[in-house]
Amino acid sequence: AETLPDPAALLAWYDRNRRTLPWRASAGEAADPYRVWLSEIMLQQTTVKAAGPYFLRFLKSFPDVAKLAAAPLEDVLKLWAGLGYYSRARNLHACAKAVAERYRGRFPESEGELLSLPGIGAYTAAAISAIAFGRKATVVDGNVERVVSRLFAVEAPTPGAKPLIRRLAASLSPPGRWGDFAQAMMDLGATICTPRRPACALCPWSGPCAARKAGTQELYPRKAPK
Ligand code: ADE
Repeated sequence: AETLPDPAALLAWYDRNRRTLPWRASAGEAADPYRVWLSEIMLQQTTVKAAGPYFLRFLKSFPDVAKLAAAPLEDVLKLWAGLGYYSRARNLHACAKAVAERYRGRFPESEGELLSLPGIGAYTAAAISAIAFGRKATVVDGNVERVVSRLFAVEAPTPGAKPLIRRLAASLSPPGRWGDFAQAMMDLGATICTPRRPACALCPWSGPCAARKAGTQELYPRKAPK
C-alpha cells in the first residue's frame, strides 16, 4: 500500500535538525513578524548565507517597523547596497510606512491583508502568516517545489505542474505548527533534498518518496521543454 508522507515525521526531523538562523525564533519561542518579514524579503533573491550580515545590520539600524518607516529612503538604500534588486528596498520602505500608518505598526496576520502591502506577494504573504503568526498557509518556494515534485514524482511540465504541486503541498500539511512545517520543508529542500545528489539516506520521507522508489530523484523537478 502507498504510504503518504507523514507531517509528524518531518516535524520530528526538524526538531532534531533545526538550523539556527538570525531571523528564526528558538524552538517554542514566538517569532517577531518584523524579523520574519524583513528576512523573507531579503531571501527572495539572496542566499541564506549572504543575507545574514545584511539582516543583522538592518536590525541594528532599524530595530522595529516604526524606525524603518521613519527613516529616509536614502538610508535604507545605503544599507541595502550589495543585495541588488533595489526595487525590493524601495518596496521594503513603502511597506514599513504602510504598516506604520494603516496598521499602527503591527503586521496583519491574514494572507489577504498581507498581500495588499507593497512588495508582499503570494509566497511572502503565506510565509509571514505561517511563520510569524502560526496560521494555516501553504508556503511554496523553489525548495518546496523540488521536495513535493520528488515525493509524488510530478511529471506534468510547467505551467500545469505549479497548481498541482501547490495542492499536493497543501495535502501534506499538519494539523498545527504551520510555521515550523513551512520552515521544515525549506530546510529539507536546502540541506537534504538538494538539486544534485540529494541525501536520501538522511531523509525522514525517503520511505514514501515516489522518485526515490524509482531511483529517479535527480530528474525532478521536471522542467518544461524550452
Ligand atoms: N528561505 C526563505 N525563507 C526561509 C526561512 N524562513 N528559513 C530558511 N530558508 C528560507
